[in-house]
Amino acid sequence: MTNRQVTKRVRNVIAVLLILSYQSAVAFAQDEHPITGRRIAPVMGVSGAEWLERSQRDNEEMPETALNAIGIQKGMTVADVGAGVGYFSIRMANRVGPSGKVYANDVQPEMLAMLKQRAAQAKVTNIVPILGTESDPKLPPKSMDLILLVDVYHEFSQPQVMLQKLRQALKDDGRLVLLEFRKEDPRIPIRTEHKMSVEEVKAEVIPEGFRLEKVLKDLPRQHIFIFRKNSM
Ligand SMILES: C[S@@+](CC[C@H](N)C(=O)[O-])C[C@H]1O[C@@H](n2cnc3c(N)ncnc32)[C@H](O)[C@@H]1O
Repeated sequence: MTNRQVTKRVRNVIAVLLILSYQSAVAFAQDEHPITGRRIAPVMGVSGAEWLERSQRDNEEMPETALNAIGIQKGMTVADVGAGVGYFSIRMANRVGPSGKVYANDVQPEMLAMLKQRAAQAKVTNIVPILGTESDPKLPPKSMDLILLVDVYHEFSQPQVMLQKLRQALKDDGRLVLLEFRKEDPRIPIRTEHKMSVEEVKAEVIPEGFRLEKVLKDLPRQHIFIFRKNSM
């Protein structure tokens, strides 16, 4: 075989490998939930950071009311998964106090950089930033009293794997809490794929080893779902 033929063959092999790896990446990233058929929302980019801190947010989402309803005690170890710039992490850090800890996880290093800046400004020192992946939040196993997902679950590209990993990170009596805009209410001005109904959340979360304890109605726009781990 001439050098030219070898080069051509190597190029062909590389081309085939590239096509195969692209196909497997596309097949891996789900765009619909396999149980409910729900369209998975794209991950909010860094340009969304401003929206996460919009001035109307306190009125629309009432974060302190949400945290009162959920119940967060001093000394707890909690995680804010998909923490963004830390709108909830910093509030939770103040509530758990110096004897507690908040693991603030996100898949975007830029979000975590902004979160660290805000935590430093707020003089909060009990937040541990964690860079996760779309299939692994990288939380320590069996260690969380509570895992909070605010306006995040609907963005998980691999929701089933993530729920299994979150379950492993919870203590046996730990709680998984989801806040999601109410899909049942068409007056809430949020795009459909960024909202979730009670039926959808139940159908997707329960099969991954959780039981629904309650759905709280304290917020003007969002459901608060409280799940516990099922023993499997
Ligand atoms: C709409 S923002 C909400 C941020 C924050 N929870 C809040 O309420 O301000 C969604 C965040 O979830 C993150 N996210 C999306 N998929 C994720 C995943 N699989 N693991 C961790 N974070 C994820 C995004 O990077 C983004 O920062």
